[in-house]
Amino acid sequence: MITRWLDTVDSTNSEALRHLEELPSGTVLAAREQTAGRGQRGNSWFSEPGKNLCFSIILKYGPGALPPLSAAHAVWLNYLSSQAVALFLRSFGVVCSIKWPNDVYVGKRKICGILIENQLGSDGVAASVVGIGININQREFAQLANATSLALATDKEYNVELCLKQFLGFFEELLPQLFDPASRELLFAAYSRALFRKGVTARYYDVLREEEFEGVIQGVEADGCLCILDGAGEHRHYHFKEVSYIL
Ligand code: BTN
Repeated sequence: MITRWLDTVDSTNSEALRHLEELPSGTVLAAREQTAGRGQRGNSWFSEPGKNLCFSIILKYGPGALPPLSAAHAVWLNYLSSQAVALFLRSFGVVCSIKWPNDVYVGKRKICGILIENQLGSDGVAASVVGIGININQREFAQLANATSLALATDKEYNVELCLKQFLGFFEELLPQLFDPASRELLFAAYSRALFRKGVTARYYDVLREEEFEGVIQGVEADGCLCILDGAGEHRHYHFKEVSYIL
């Protein structure tokens, strides 16, 4: 993988999408500062300049690049990316879990967010931009009540560029698993084991039914849906954005 560090950019995902044609698979765009970092559900991603990791990995599939990836298998990139973050954090002794679909938490606090943007072609996914924000040295989060960082979790400071190299080592090691059915199962098993709130009674908001309810996460299904068993014994199945966690 080839990393390009940018001093300032609106969003590494936006920059990667703008230059997708000319940048080869395996290019990593990392920014010291993002002026308009983007998150899931149209949210903004805030990160103090120079303190954290904000980067996007460009992946391309098909001839001359990675093996093909069907649209149905695109969800595995969520599992892979969050698992790579979990391995990276655990290498510093940090206990973390993955909040479906791909946020990484330390206790009840978010340490990492992931925004994957796929471009579909006629044969499945043509390219992916895997945008990852990992809080490294930031210790104060004015806009975010429930955020944390590697520095807060371990009470140490880190070299951000070195952290990116370390993270990419984990990501590259996992990447071949995306294209092999047996390895995908292992990846899915590891992801399921790390699931935030699995087996724990907690509160959720059902977006379609417009109601809050109490339930227990049973797991994630093969199609990527989250399954929650509610108090009335109903198994509720959610696609992304159909349920939110009440923290
Ligand atoms: C989320 O939790 O809502 C996802 C946040 C993703 C943030 C990263 S930072 C690098 C990349 N560039 C962006 O604009 N967003 C992603």
